[in-house]
Amino acid sequence: MSGTPTETDEPQILVERITTLDDDDLHALCEATDAAIIDGGGFGWINPPGRRALETYYRGVLLVPERELFVARLNGDIVGSAHLVRPPRNNEAQAFAAQLMHAFIAPFARGHGMARLLVEGVEERARDIGYHILNLDVRETQGAAIRLYESMGYTRWGEHPDYALVRGTVIRGYFYHKRLRPRKGQASA
Ligand SMILES: CC(C)(COP(=O)(O)OP(=O)(O)OC[C@H]1O[C@@H](n2cnc3c(N)ncnc32)[C@H](O)[C@@H]1OP(=O)(O)O)[C@@H](O)C(=O)NCCC(=O)NCCS
Repeated sequence: MSGTPTETDEPQILVERITTLDDDDLHALCEATDAAIIDGGGFGWINPPGRRALETYYRGVLLVPERELFVARLNGDIVGSAHLVRPPRNNEAQAFAAQLMHAFIAPFARGHGMARLLVEGVEERARDIGYHILNLDVRETQGAAIRLYESMGYTRWGEHPDYALVRGTVIRGYFYHKRLRPRKGQASA
């Protein structure tokens, strides 16, 4: 689940699933999150909640049984992340489908192909642990993310006219899904 640098002066990019965060990683993840929120974010926060709240949030994410945290590293430093969210145990009817949430790359690290690698990493993990479908949703204003997901084979199946309220403006949301494995009895593409 990693990018392979070919030249020493090329940025080294890597995506990994993490289960612990040391102080340096937590600091970098919070810096990246702050920068993305200030830029317009798209993963819930409208204003940076403050460093202490962010640290508590990420420590909490690592403790949630249904959540897995993936990070993107640029030259070793965390510059983005995404969550893979498994359905709760009681949801047997949708036990085949997981959710990709909160994917972002900090503005200062964009354009290196890290988001594509991050999403591929989450997909690979979801497939490996048995999921057939990955669902996600995105604000209509997140054009880069929409282009990324559509270029990766996500199908838009619905939209919500009142998906988010940002500084008094109502924003539409789009819902996507991607099949990770062929349906039973269906040949793989
Ligand atoms: C969406 C986002 C993750 C892309 O990050 P990135 O590191 O620049 O993405 P990549 O370099 O991997 O680019 C992958 C693809 O994204 C699309 N893309 C990225 N930036 C784009 C832009 N500014 N305009 C158009 N397309 C863009 C392209 O399709 C690109 O494909 P290509 O490799 O064929 O050129 C980043 O812009 C971001 O964090 N945005 C805010 C948060 C967000 O929208 N999250 C998703 C919803 S929760």
